[in-house]
Amino acid sequence: MESCKFIISLLFIISIIGRGVRAYEIDTYEFLMPNVWPNKDELYLCTPIRIAPKKNFYVVGFKPNASMHTAHHMLLYGCSQPGSNDSVWSCGEMQSNEIDNKYNTASPCKSGSQIVYAWARDAPRLQLPPDVGFLMGNDSPIKYLVLQVHYMHKFPEGKTDNSGVFLEYTTERMPRQAGVILLGTSGVIPANRIEHMETACTINEDKVIHPFAFRPHTHALGTEVSGFVVRRSPTGDIWQLLGSKNPQLPQMFYPVVSRTPITKNDVLAARCVMNNTRSHSVNIGATNNDEMCNFYLMYWVQDDTPLTQKYCFSPGPPYYYWSRAPQNFDRIPDRDFNVL
Ligand SMILES: *[C@@H]1O[C@H](CO)[C@@H](O)[C@H](O)[C@H]1NC(C)=O
Ligand SMILES: *[C@@H]1O[C@H](CO)[C@@H](O)[C@H](O)[C@H]1NC(C)=O
Ligand SMILES: *[C@@H]1O[C@H](CO)[C@@H](O)[C@H](O)[C@H]1NC(C)=O
Repeated sequence: MESCKFIISLLFIISIIGRGVRAYEIDTYEFLMPNVWPNKDELYLCTPIRIAPKKNFYVVGFKPNASMHTAHHMLLYGCSQPGSNDSVWSCGEMQSNEIDNKYNTASPCKSGSQIVYAWARDAPRLQLPPDVGFLMGNDSPIKYLVLQVHYMHKFPEGKTDNSGVFLEYTTERMPRQAGVILLGTSGVIPANRIEHMETACTINEDKVIHPFAFRPHTHALGTEVSGFVVRRSPTGDIWQLLGSKNPQLPQMFYPVVSRTPITKNDVLAARCVMNNTRSHSVNIGATNNDEMCNFYLMYWVQDDTPLTQKYCFSPGPPYYYWSRAPQNFDRIPDRDFNVL
Protein backbone atom coordinates (compact mmCIF):
# COMPACT_ATOMS: atom_id res chain seq x y z
CA MET A 1 0.00 0.00 0.00
CA GLU A 2 2.76 2.42 1.05
CA SER A 3 4.91 1.57 -1.97
CA CYS A 4 1.88 2.06 -4.18
CA LYS A 5 1.40 5.58 -2.78
CA PHE A 6 5.08 6.25 -3.25
CA ILE A 7 4.93 5.21 -6.89
CA ILE A 8 1.88 7.39 -7.45
CA SER A 9 3.55 10.46 -5.94
CA LEU A 10 6.72 9.68 -7.88
CA LEU A 11 4.70 9.50 -11.09
CA PHE A 12 3.09 12.79 -10.16
CA ILE A 13 6.47 14.48 -9.69
CA ILE A 14 7.77 13.01 -12.94
CA SER A 15 4.72 14.28 -14.80
CA ILE A 16 5.31 17.79 -13.45
CA ILE A 17 8.97 17.70 -14.45
CA GLY A 18 8.02 16.17 -17.80
CA ARG A 19 5.70 19.06 -18.57
CA GLY A 20 8.46 21.56 -17.90
CA VAL A 21 7.99 24.70 -15.87
CA ARG A 22 6.14 27.45 -17.65
CA ALA A 23 6.80 30.84 -16.14
CA TYR A 24 3.58 32.21 -17.59
CA GLU A 25 -0.08 31.45 -17.39
CA ILE A 26 -1.88 29.65 -20.20
CA ASP A 27 -5.56 30.34 -20.76
CA THR A 28 -7.90 28.37 -22.96
CA TYR A 29 -10.45 29.72 -25.39
CA GLU A 30 -13.07 27.28 -26.67
CA PHE A 31 -13.39 28.17 -30.34
CA LEU A 32 -16.34 26.01 -31.42
CA MET A 33 -19.02 25.94 -34.08
CA PRO A 34 -22.12 27.66 -32.59
CA ASN A 35 -24.57 24.71 -32.72
CA VAL A 36 -24.60 24.49 -36.50
CA TRP A 37 -26.78 22.14 -38.49
CA PRO A 38 -24.94 20.75 -41.56
CA ASN A 39 -27.83 20.64 -44.01
CA LYS A 40 -26.10 18.55 -46.69
CA ASP A 41 -23.20 16.15 -47.24
CA GLU A 42 -19.64 17.45 -47.70
CA LEU A 43 -20.48 20.91 -46.36
CA TYR A 44 -17.74 23.39 -45.41
CA LEU A 45 -18.76 25.82 -42.66
CA CYS A 46 -16.84 28.81 -41.29
CA THR A 47 -17.26 30.77 -38.06
CA PRO A 48 -15.16 33.78 -36.95
CA ILE A 49 -13.81 35.33 -33.76
CA ARG A 50 -12.53 38.88 -33.55
CA ILE A 51 -9.31 39.22 -31.58
CA ALA A 52 -9.42 42.08 -29.01
CA PRO A 53 -7.67 44.72 -31.16
CA LYS A 54 -5.71 46.60 -28.48
CA LYS A 55 -4.05 43.56 -26.92
CA ASN A 56 -1.49 41.01 -27.98
CA PHE A 57 -2.18 37.29 -27.68
CA TYR A 58 0.19 34.42 -28.33
CA VAL A 59 -1.43 31.11 -29.27
CA VAL A 60 0.90 28.36 -28.07
CA GLY A 61 -1.21 25.24 -28.57
CA PHE A 62 -4.22 23.83 -30.39
CA LYS A 63 -6.37 21.15 -28.77
CA PRO A 64 -8.89 19.70 -31.21
CA ASN A 65 -12.44 19.02 -29.98
CA ALA A 66 -13.87 17.02 -32.86
CA SER A 67 -14.34 13.49 -34.11
CA MET A 68 -13.30 11.96 -37.42
CA HIS A 69 -16.76 10.42 -37.62
CA THR A 70 -18.21 13.93 -38.00
CA ALA A 71 -15.50 16.01 -39.69
CA HIS A 72 -13.05 15.34 -42.55
CA HIS A 73 -10.87 18.22 -41.47
CA MET A 74 -10.70 21.52 -39.60
CA LEU A 75 -8.57 24.49 -40.63
CA LEU A 76 -7.90 27.63 -38.66
CA TYR A 77 -7.28 30.77 -40.75
CA GLY A 78 -5.79 34.01 -39.51
CA CYS A 79 -7.39 36.96 -41.37
CA SER A 80 -7.14 40.74 -41.46
CA GLN A 81 -10.83 40.72 -42.46
CA PRO A 82 -13.17 37.72 -42.31
CA GLY A 83 -14.84 36.49 -45.49
CA SER A 84 -18.32 37.34 -44.19
CA ASN A 85 -20.03 39.25 -41.39
CA ASP A 86 -22.37 36.31 -40.70
CA SER A 87 -21.84 34.21 -37.58
CA VAL A 88 -21.66 31.09 -39.80
CA TRP A 89 -21.24 30.80 -43.56
CA SER A 90 -20.54 28.18 -46.20
CA CYS A 91 -16.84 28.39 -47.19
CA GLY A 92 -15.84 25.37 -49.28
CA GLU A 93 -12.51 25.14 -50.98
CA MET A 94 -14.27 22.68 -53.24
CA GLN A 95 -17.31 24.76 -53.99
CA SER A 96 -20.06 23.77 -56.26
CA ASN A 97 -22.08 26.62 -57.67
CA GLU A 98 -25.37 25.52 -56.20
CA ILE A 99 -27.17 28.10 -54.09
CA ASP A 100 -27.46 27.19 -50.42
CA ASN A 101 -30.71 28.27 -48.82
CA LYS A 102 -29.39 28.09 -45.27
CA TYR A 103 -25.88 29.54 -45.37
CA ASN A 104 -24.36 32.32 -47.51
CA THR A 105 -21.20 31.46 -49.40
CA ALA A 106 -17.86 33.28 -49.01
CA SER A 107 -14.17 32.45 -48.66
CA PRO A 108 -12.77 32.08 -45.11
CA CYS A 109 -10.94 35.45 -45.25
CA LYS A 110 -11.70 38.64 -47.18
CA SER A 111 -8.08 39.77 -46.78
CA GLY A 112 -4.82 38.79 -45.13
CA SER A 113 -5.45 35.04 -45.28
CA GLN A 114 -2.98 32.67 -43.65
CA ILE A 115 -3.39 29.17 -42.25
CA VAL A 116 -2.32 28.69 -38.64
CA TYR A 117 -3.61 25.20 -37.81
CA ALA A 118 -4.96 22.08 -39.47
CA TRP A 119 -6.57 18.94 -38.07
CA ALA A 120 -7.67 15.68 -39.64
CA ARG A 121 -8.32 12.06 -38.65
CA ASP A 122 -8.34 12.38 -34.86
CA ALA A 123 -4.89 14.00 -34.92
CA PRO A 124 -3.75 14.81 -31.39
CA ARG A 125 -3.16 18.25 -29.89
CA LEU A 126 -0.48 20.42 -31.51
CA GLN A 127 1.77 22.14 -29.03
CA LEU A 128 4.25 24.66 -30.41
CA PRO A 129 7.90 24.39 -29.24
CA PRO A 130 8.84 26.21 -25.99
CA ASP A 131 8.57 30.03 -26.11
CA VAL A 132 6.90 29.92 -29.55
CA GLY A 133 3.51 31.51 -30.19
CA PHE A 134 1.36 32.84 -33.02
CA LEU A 135 1.00 36.56 -32.35
CA MET A 136 -2.54 37.87 -32.86
CA GLY A 137 -4.18 41.21 -32.14
CA ASN A 138 -2.66 44.66 -31.84
CA ASP A 139 0.82 44.11 -33.32
CA SER A 140 -0.20 41.40 -35.79
CA PRO A 141 -1.94 41.36 -39.18
CA ILE A 142 -4.13 38.60 -37.68
CA LYS A 143 -7.21 40.48 -36.42
CA TYR A 144 -9.67 37.59 -36.78
CA LEU A 145 -9.52 33.82 -36.57
CA VAL A 146 -11.84 31.80 -38.77
CA LEU A 147 -12.58 28.15 -38.00
CA GLN A 148 -13.44 26.02 -41.04
CA VAL A 149 -14.96 22.56 -40.56
CA HIS A 150 -15.45 20.20 -43.49
CA TYR A 151 -18.41 18.03 -42.44
CA MET A 152 -18.88 14.56 -43.81
CA HIS A 153 -22.61 14.11 -43.75
CA LYS A 154 -25.87 15.94 -43.50
CA PHE A 155 -27.05 15.91 -39.87
CA PRO A 156 -30.38 14.42 -38.81
CA GLU A 157 -33.16 16.91 -38.09
CA GLY A 158 -32.69 18.57 -34.68
CA LYS A 159 -29.08 17.44 -34.17
CA THR A 160 -26.45 20.19 -34.11
CA ASP A 161 -22.69 20.33 -33.81
CA ASN A 162 -20.00 22.21 -31.92
CA SER A 163 -16.76 20.81 -33.24
CA GLY A 164 -13.80 23.13 -32.90
CA VAL A 165 -10.46 23.85 -31.30
CA PHE A 166 -9.46 24.82 -27.79
CA LEU A 167 -6.90 27.60 -28.25
CA GLU A 168 -4.18 27.66 -25.62
CA TYR A 169 -2.86 31.20 -25.35
CA THR A 170 -1.03 33.65 -23.19
CA THR A 171 -0.77 37.45 -23.07
CA GLU A 172 2.85 37.08 -21.95
CA ARG A 173 5.24 38.11 -24.73
CA MET A 174 6.72 35.04 -26.40
CA PRO A 175 10.26 35.67 -27.67
CA ARG A 176 9.67 33.39 -30.66
CA GLN A 177 6.87 34.17 -33.12
CA ALA A 178 5.41 31.39 -35.24
CA GLY A 179 4.69 31.80 -38.95
CA VAL A 180 3.54 29.71 -41.91
CA ILE A 181 4.64 29.94 -45.55
CA LEU A 182 2.59 28.15 -48.21
CA LEU A 183 4.39 26.69 -51.23
CA GLY A 184 2.26 25.63 -54.18
CA THR A 185 1.78 25.50 -57.92
CA SER A 186 -0.66 26.18 -60.67
CA GLY A 187 -0.57 24.04 -63.82
CA VAL A 188 -1.99 21.05 -65.65
CA ILE A 189 -1.51 17.31 -65.20
CA PRO A 190 -1.79 15.47 -68.53
CA ALA A 191 -4.08 12.41 -68.83
CA ASN A 192 -2.65 9.06 -67.74
CA ARG A 193 0.64 10.50 -66.60
CA ILE A 194 2.83 10.87 -63.54
CA GLU A 195 3.58 14.59 -63.27
CA HIS A 196 5.90 16.55 -61.00
CA MET A 197 4.54 19.90 -59.82
CA GLU A 198 7.38 22.04 -58.51
CA THR A 199 7.96 25.46 -56.98
CA ALA A 200 10.92 27.31 -55.45
CA CYS A 201 11.54 30.74 -53.90
CA THR A 202 14.72 32.41 -52.74
CA ILE A 203 14.37 33.94 -49.28
CA ASN A 204 15.17 37.63 -49.73
CA GLU A 205 14.28 38.82 -46.24
CA ASP A 206 17.06 39.26 -43.73
CA LYS A 207 15.63 36.85 -41.14
CA VAL A 208 16.59 33.53 -39.63
CA ILE A 209 13.69 31.10 -39.73
CA HIS A 210 13.56 27.87 -37.75
CA PRO A 211 11.31 25.28 -39.41
CA PHE A 212 9.50 22.82 -37.13
CA ALA A 213 6.41 21.43 -38.87
CA PHE A 214 4.99 20.87 -42.36
CA ARG A 215 1.66 19.92 -43.89
CA PRO A 216 1.00 18.33 -47.30
CA HIS A 217 -2.17 19.04 -49.25
CA THR A 218 -3.46 17.70 -52.56
CA HIS A 219 -6.78 16.28 -53.66
CA ALA A 220 -7.17 12.69 -54.92
CA LEU A 221 -4.23 12.40 -57.36
CA GLY A 222 -1.30 13.33 -55.11
CA THR A 223 0.98 10.46 -54.10
CA GLU A 224 3.79 12.42 -52.48
CA VAL A 225 4.47 15.97 -51.29
CA SER A 226 8.02 16.96 -50.34
CA GLY A 227 9.68 20.17 -49.21
CA PHE A 228 13.36 21.14 -49.29
CA VAL A 229 15.76 23.89 -48.34
CA VAL A 230 18.32 24.42 -51.08
CA ARG A 231 21.63 25.72 -49.75
CA ARG A 232 23.60 27.41 -52.51
CA SER A 233 27.35 26.97 -52.52
CA PRO A 234 30.14 27.40 -55.08
CA THR A 235 30.63 23.66 -55.13
CA GLY A 236 26.95 22.95 -55.88
CA ASP A 237 23.49 23.01 -54.39
CA ILE A 238 22.66 21.00 -51.29
CA TRP A 239 19.03 19.87 -51.21
CA GLN A 240 18.07 19.30 -47.60
CA LEU A 241 14.76 17.50 -47.04
CA LEU A 242 12.31 19.29 -44.72
CA GLY A 243 9.65 16.63 -44.92
CA SER A 244 7.86 14.27 -47.28
CA LYS A 245 4.45 12.66 -46.92
CA ASN A 246 1.83 10.77 -48.81
CA PRO A 247 -1.03 13.32 -48.98
CA GLN A 248 -3.59 10.50 -48.89
CA LEU A 249 -2.62 10.11 -45.21
CA PRO A 250 -4.09 12.63 -42.72
CA GLN A 251 -3.15 16.12 -43.92
CA MET A 252 -2.04 17.52 -40.57
CA PHE A 253 1.16 19.25 -39.45
CA TYR A 254 4.03 16.77 -39.02
CA PRO A 255 7.48 17.45 -37.49
CA VAL A 256 10.14 18.43 -40.05
CA VAL A 257 13.08 16.06 -40.50
CA SER A 258 15.66 18.87 -40.48
CA ARG A 259 15.45 21.86 -38.15
CA THR A 260 18.58 23.60 -39.43
CA PRO A 261 17.83 27.35 -39.60
CA ILE A 262 17.03 28.90 -42.98
CA THR A 263 18.59 32.25 -43.81
CA LYS A 264 18.62 34.88 -46.53
CA ASN A 265 19.55 33.50 -49.98
CA ASP A 266 18.53 29.94 -49.07
CA VAL A 267 15.78 28.61 -51.32
CA LEU A 268 12.54 26.97 -50.20
CA ALA A 269 11.32 24.35 -52.67
CA ALA A 270 8.44 21.91 -52.85
CA ARG A 271 7.38 19.12 -55.17
CA CYS A 272 4.16 17.15 -55.53
CA VAL A 273 4.10 13.86 -57.39
CA MET A 274 0.72 13.47 -59.05
CA ASN A 275 -0.58 10.26 -60.57
CA ASN A 276 -3.29 11.15 -63.07
CA THR A 277 -5.12 7.89 -63.58
CA ARG A 278 -7.94 9.72 -65.41
CA SER A 279 -8.31 9.73 -69.16
CA HIS A 280 -8.43 13.55 -69.28
CA SER A 281 -6.05 16.26 -68.11
CA VAL A 282 -6.60 17.79 -64.67
CA ASN A 283 -6.07 21.45 -63.75
CA ILE A 284 -5.09 23.05 -60.51
CA GLY A 285 -8.28 24.58 -59.17
CA ALA A 286 -10.77 24.87 -56.36
CA THR A 287 -13.29 22.12 -57.03
CA ASN A 288 -13.25 18.45 -56.20
CA ASN A 289 -12.56 17.62 -59.88
CA ASP A 290 -9.47 19.82 -59.85
CA GLU A 291 -6.19 19.29 -58.06
CA MET A 292 -3.97 21.18 -55.65
CA CYS A 293 -0.28 20.97 -54.80
CA ASN A 294 0.50 22.61 -51.45
CA PHE A 295 3.30 22.32 -48.89
CA TYR A 296 2.82 24.37 -45.71
CA LEU A 297 5.91 25.12 -43.64
CA MET A 298 5.54 26.22 -40.00
CA TYR A 299 8.52 27.97 -38.42
CA TRP A 300 9.55 30.36 -35.66
CA VAL A 301 11.74 33.48 -35.58
CA GLN A 302 13.64 34.73 -32.54
CA ASP A 303 12.75 38.30 -31.36
CA ASP A 304 11.50 39.12 -34.84
CA THR A 305 8.33 39.11 -36.95
CA PRO A 306 7.56 36.22 -39.33
CA LEU A 307 8.36 36.52 -43.05
CA THR A 308 6.22 39.05 -44.91
CA GLN A 309 6.30 36.48 -47.70
CA LYS A 310 3.42 34.10 -46.93
CA TYR A 311 3.22 32.36 -50.34
CA CYS A 312 5.60 30.80 -52.89
CA PHE A 313 3.73 29.80 -56.06
CA SER A 314 4.95 28.74 -59.51
CA PRO A 315 3.02 28.34 -62.80
CA GLY A 316 3.62 24.56 -62.57
CA PRO A 317 3.67 22.11 -65.49
CA PRO A 318 4.11 22.39 -68.42
CA TYR A 319 5.74 25.83 -67.91
CA TYR A 320 7.73 25.47 -64.74
CA TYR A 321 10.04 22.78 -63.38
CA TRP A 322 13.01 23.12 -61.04
CA SER A 323 15.20 22.31 -64.05
CA ARG A 324 14.01 25.54 -65.74
CA ALA A 325 13.95 27.77 -62.66
CA PRO A 326 15.79 31.12 -62.74
CA GLN A 327 17.94 29.98 -59.81
CA ASN A 328 19.72 27.62 -62.20
CA PHE A 329 19.73 24.69 -59.76
CA ASP A 330 22.07 21.76 -59.89
CA ARG A 331 21.92 18.36 -58.16
CA ILE A 332 18.13 18.39 -58.39
CA PRO A 333 16.83 15.32 -56.53
CA ASP A 334 15.60 12.99 -59.26
CA ARG A 335 14.10 10.29 -57.10
CA ASP A 336 10.85 10.51 -55.23
CA PHE A 337 11.14 10.60 -51.49
CA ASN A 338 8.89 7.86 -50.20
CA VAL A 339 9.59 8.75 -46.59
CA LEU A 340 5.94 8.63 -45.47
C1 LIG B 1 -16.61 20.05 -27.65
O1 LIG B 1 -16.62 20.64 -26.36
C2 LIG B 1 -17.88 20.95 -25.84
C3 LIG B 1 -17.78 21.70 -24.51
O2 LIG B 1 -16.50 22.01 -24.13
C4 LIG B 1 -18.74 19.72 -25.74
O3 LIG B 1 -20.04 20.02 -25.25
C5 LIG B 1 -18.84 19.06 -27.10
O4 LIG B 1 -19.56 17.86 -27.02
C6 LIG B 1 -17.48 18.81 -27.70
N1 LIG B 1 -17.66 18.32 -29.07
C7 LIG B 1 -16.99 17.27 -29.60
C8 LIG B 1 -17.29 16.90 -30.98
O5 LIG B 1 -16.15 16.69 -28.98
C1 LIG C 1 -18.46 43.60 -42.77
O1 LIG C 1 -18.85 44.86 -42.24
C2 LIG C 1 -17.84 45.87 -42.33
C3 LIG C 1 -18.35 47.12 -41.61
O2 LIG C 1 -19.66 47.38 -41.92
C4 LIG C 1 -17.50 46.13 -43.78
O3 LIG C 1 -16.47 47.10 -43.89
C5 LIG C 1 -17.02 44.83 -44.42
O4 LIG C 1 -16.76 45.02 -45.79
C6 LIG C 1 -18.07 43.73 -44.24
N1 LIG C 1 -17.49 42.47 -44.72
C7 LIG C 1 -18.05 41.77 -45.71
C8 LIG C 1 -17.34 40.53 -46.11
O5 LIG C 1 -19.06 42.09 -46.27
C1 LIG D 1 -0.55 5.29 -60.47
O1 LIG D 1 -1.85 4.78 -60.25
C2 LIG D 1 -2.07 3.52 -60.83
C3 LIG D 1 -3.53 3.15 -60.62
O2 LIG D 1 -3.90 3.25 -59.29
C4 LIG D 1 -1.12 2.49 -60.20
O3 LIG D 1 -1.29 1.23 -60.82
C5 LIG D 1 0.31 2.97 -60.39
O4 LIG D 1 1.21 2.09 -59.73
C6 LIG D 1 0.49 4.38 -59.84
N1 LIG D 1 1.85 4.84 -60.12
C7 LIG D 1 2.61 5.44 -59.22
C8 LIG D 1 3.98 5.81 -59.65
O5 LIG D 1 2.22 5.71 -58.10
